[in-house]
Amino acid sequence: MPESRVARPRRFLVCEPRFFAVRYAINPWMRPEQPVDVSLARRQWLSLVDAYRRHGHTVETVEPLPGLPDMVFAANAAVVVDGRVFGSRFHAPERRPESVPYVAWFKAHGFDVQHPESVCEGEGDLVPAGRWILAGTGFRTTPEAHREAQEFFGVPVIGLTLVDPYFYHLDTALFVLDEENVAYYPEAFSPGSREVLERLYPDAVLATREDARAFGLNSVSDGRHVFISPGATELADRLADRGYVPVPVDLSEFRKAGGGIKCCTQEIRS
Ligand code: ARG
Repeated sequence: MPESRVARPRRFLVCEPRFFAVRYAINPWMRPEQPVDVSLARRQWLSLVDAYRRHGHTVETVEPLPGLPDMVFAANAAVVVDGRVFGSRFHAPERRPESVPYVAWFKAHGFDVQHPESVCEGEGDLVPAGRWILAGTGFRTTPEAHREAQEFFGVPVIGLTLVDPYFYHLDTALFVLDEENVAYYPEAFSPGSREVLERLYPDAVLATREDARAFGLNSVSDGRHVFISPGATELADRLADRGYVPVPVDLSEFRKAGGGIKCCTQEIRS
């Protein structure tokens, strides 16, 4: 009998994909010549918001701006722990202006924002995991930003090196299941980082390459329900065996930009 898991209600910040498009290529999934179906993207995105609300989570929105096609990926705007907001400094010049509306949202909602000095892409790479923060580097967020985040939060930041350009953000290769455990795709990490993950999480749920390619590691867990790409079938089975409840949400249109469920979701932890 698998353990019975307990959900904790979350507060999420999302951004409607009104101006979503693929206009430049900053990761291997992006092909600017490939058209995007904005109305399909919008329906898929609404189904995610609906799934969160049906499971008791609070969803707030930031107004999208024209000319910022990746603004839908709210996870990259900041990382919030204990009500402290560590903002972003985007790697790609095309995405840098996104910081402005997100910072404005945080300020309007009573948060101060700490601005990183080095490249840092929010929860895309800085993943709060209970007693520590797991932090990806290799493609976007720098080790200097990991140090800045540790200094700012006063929480241990554990650096992990990503090695596969298809899994360029930590949240494309790993997600947090609950305070104690994570799921990840080992091949996305350097040998040393893989060993770190094995030491920290001997009982982790491991994903196959197919699960990872289907954006299965770009999932959001509330401790019980795992909002997950329907293509990650093997991973969903493994999660169910451990007592989690997979909730499939199809965000296939966002894959054209290299994004999925978690990319579209910023968690406000207070
Ligand atoms: N096109 C975006 C980029 O490459 C996708 C961001 C996905 N976000 C994430 N949290 N992984 O920056």
